[in-house]
Amino acid sequence: MRHLVTGCLFHKKGVAAYHLFTIFAAITKPQNIMKSYTTLLTELTNGILLVTLNREDKLNALNKAVIGDLNDVMDEVYANAEIKGVVLTGKGSKAFAAGADIAEFKGLDEAQGTALAKRGHDVFNRIEMCPKPVIAAVNGFALGGGCELAMACHIRIASENAKFGQPEVNLGLIPGYGGTQRLVQLIGKGKALELLMTADMIDAHCAQKLGLVNDVVQTVELIDHCKAMVAKIASKAPFAIAQVIQSVYAHFKDGIDGFDTEISLFGKCVTTDDFVEGTAAFLEKRKANFKGK
Ligand code: COA
Repeated sequence: MRHLVTGCLFHKKGVAAYHLFTIFAAITKPQNIMKSYTTLLTELTNGILLVTLNREDKLNALNKAVIGDLNDVMDEVYANAEIKGVVLTGKGSKAFAAGADIAEFKGLDEAQGTALAKRGHDVFNRIEMCPKPVIAAVNGFALGGGCELAMACHIRIASENAKFGQPEVNLGLIPGYGGTQRLVQLIGKGKALELLMTADMIDAHCAQKLGLVNDVVQTVELIDHCKAMVAKIASKAPFAIAQVIQSVYAHFKDGIDGFDTEISLFGKCVTTDDFVEGTAAFLEKRKANFKGK
């Protein structure tokens, strides 16, 4: 009943869904999923997949195996209808992920460097374009590729001890997993250039002030808070949620008019059973029962 206790202790956010979720979590057991991973821990509970980067001794640095496993777990998230959303975090109390694995950088030539960045981009793009919510629970250092991974998620929640930065210039590099683009999208050109060029690390509250993270919560609250947020999103019409994601990211795609995308996706939504159910439920003053169709 640990979840019940923490739910009572940390009341300040006043998130009713959090309390409901913790009660629910306390009385249900994790479900098993099919695949197991070398560098990730996965646990599916009530449709929420908790994915934990599992290289604590290396501060969850993103080596090739981690990137491969992240790609494979996204396959599972896209394909498995039981998974309604994802919370992504790092093992231990120190790091979400302290960057790409610097040990794998030694001796890279230009073609290999380009291929390494391209692979990271491809996998992170799949996270970003996932039709189900993906929330980063940032529990410590999110540096370099770790910050980029968090930024590829739809929403970032940080614990009080989280620290963010893009220190690649210290290594004679630039970010290679989308950092120069997503940081600008999230916090604007001026501050992004400052962080990218100074390699300064910022704390969770500063990251929140800049818009890099959505919220900062107590460390013990972090995972349940993120799960509650996924549960809340998962209670809405799933097709509509997928269209929100697609429409918002259309804003950032070259050659695509986001307004036109929204118009066409709105049209698609009205063809769904969930639209019929959602509007009927409102008019009949009852809770909607969405089927994801
Ligand atoms: N790649 C590979 N290994 C890493 C790593 C990374 N990005 N970040 C940390 N590690 C490893 C360390 O080498 C060390 O391994 P060891 O115990 O086998 O020597 C272990 O993780 C613990 O890290 P350590 O540096 O001892 O911890 P710390 O508390 O003194 O410092 C950091 C923490 C995050 C400030 C420091 O590890 C760091 O600067 N990491 C690199 C950050 C970075 O430049 N990221 C961008 C990469 S492109």
